[in-house]
Amino acid sequence: SGSGLPLLVQRTIAKQIQMVRQIGKGRYGEVWMGRWRGERVAVKVFFTTEEASWFRETEIYQTVLMRHENILGFIAADIKGTGSWTQLYLITDFHESGSLYDHLKSITLDPRSLLRLAHSAVSGLCHLHTEIFGTQGKPAIAHRDLKSKNILVKRNGTCCIADLGLAVKFISGHPSKYSGMVEDYQLPYHDLVPTDPSYEDMREVVCIKRQRPSFANRWSSDESPSLFPAPPQIITSFPPSFALPESLHNSPIPIFCPNLSP
Ligand code: ADE
Repeated sequence: SGSGLPLLVQRTIAKQIQMVRQIGKGRYGEVWMGRWRGERVAVKVFFTTEEASWFRETEIYQTVLMRHENILGFIAADIKGTGSWTQLYLITDFHESGSLYDHLKSITLDPRSLLRLAHSAVSGLCHLHTEIFGTQGKPAIAHRDLKSKNILVKRNGTCCIADLGLAVKFISGHPSKYSGMVEDYQLPYHDLVPTDPSYEDMREVVCIKRQRPSFANRWSSDESPSLFPAPPQIITSFPPSFALPESLHNSPIPIFCPNLSP
């Protein structure tokens, strides 16, 4: 379906892959580096119990207009049933630098490289979120498990977003969990600082009083928490591996990202 290769072609590719070595594991299964016609590929092997994750992730990758330089490139998916045992594979591009999480622990970034990584990750997320209208359109997609372990670093110093096993499509006009009562948009800290706050106003609240934006009670009482597998985190300091210019040390500007860690 969608922009994926025909299913028979995908199955043929899956059969031709030699598994080389395991490069990761998680609650869903394992990730292997494999070789297909001399090229390295990543093979995500799902546990039999994770068929729903495999199905969801495969379906999302094959959504029309999903291909984007900052979304992990899908190659093929395959399912093989052998009685009680099901083999579920998802084959994607391989990125030797691995996850952003590991990458940030192993290198020191200059501000330019930091911005390149951040900008590319945000571009990928923006593409996911964007609804494109038309007969060959794309629904808005919420990732729902975005964190640095689910972002891969490419050779050119940009990132791509991976692990779409919990993603949901939002088709406008359809009733969904997003509908219902919502508050008007407000800037973080709107209730704690004057409008158009000064640097000092922000420093006082964030660095000295250590106050953080509040979440509406509704977030923990209605069904919407199921949209977020982990609570959103607010990042107010940078790991030591970021070589930020002196002027940005102890920046009072918190970076607010749902589930983006560390
Ligand atoms: N770890 C998880 N997925 C990967 C991929 N596609 N390439 C390299 N490392 C990975």
